[in-house]
Amino acid sequence: MGAAAGGIRVGMSAPPRTVADQSLPEMGGRLSVVALQRADHVRLDGLMTRARTTVRTGGPEHARTLRSLARLVFTHAFAEESVLFPAARRALPEGDPLSLHIETAHQRVDELVARLDGSSADDPAHEELMLRTFAVLEEDVRSEEDALLPRLQEELTVRQLRAVGLAWLLVRLVAPTRAHPVVSRRPPGQVLSALPLTVLDRARDNLQRLDEVSRGRAAPVLARADRALARAAGAVERFPLLRVGERAETSRG
Ligand SMILES: [Fe+2]
Ligand SMILES: [Fe+2]
Repeated sequence: MGAAAGGIRVGMSAPPRTVADQSLPEMGGRLSVVALQRADHVRLDGLMTRARTTVRTGGPEHARTLRSLARLVFTHAFAEESVLFPAARRALPEGDPLSLHIETAHQRVDELVARLDGSSADDPAHEELMLRTFAVLEEDVRSEEDALLPRLQEELTVRQLRAVGLAWLLVRLVAPTRAHPVVSRRPPGQVLSALPLTVLDRARDNLQRLDEVSRGRAAPVLARADRALARAAGAVERFPLLRVGERAETSRG
């Protein structure tokens, strides 16, 4: 494997090795984008396992699990699309088709999770929809851990992987938390969307928390406020500026 130490790359003979089999030092330490990606994928796997169990009983625990999973998926994918994939396109000759393949999977995830959000465990089609969504998510993880990240390790030094990791971490902290399939999956439109959509998404997350804390007592008022914020997000998504950079393969205008 093309392991790199400090600013110097060493050894290029062995083929790329999946990130799933690598130790933390091999991934470049905790702050390397490779380790940060892997940690999120492990968390995602845990949430999918829990959702496959809680779907049998449904109720608030299942809903909470799917909500945590959706928040993780969208903030994680946003950081990939604004930081990791542009870095891959700069570093790898095959970076464009490789990242476009993953962005197309992200587009499918956005659409599936948006539908999943509107269904409940009582719905006869819910489990099938959930499992289909998880299959696309698992395929996405494999494309990243088996192809994109090992190739990035071959081309970048550990110092560079950590610099990408730091930017990735910062973007993930302030990323939108919900599906926005109409917005470009690539900068600059994708990055420009962050500020208005993050504010609106996180306001909706707070309303959801308030609903849980008040045990549904303020549900009608909160639902009205949530619908207004959702409409505002829908209007923001359609600003032409936020489509700049999108590719035909992931366009949902
Ligand atoms: Fe991804
Ligand atoms: Fe990922």
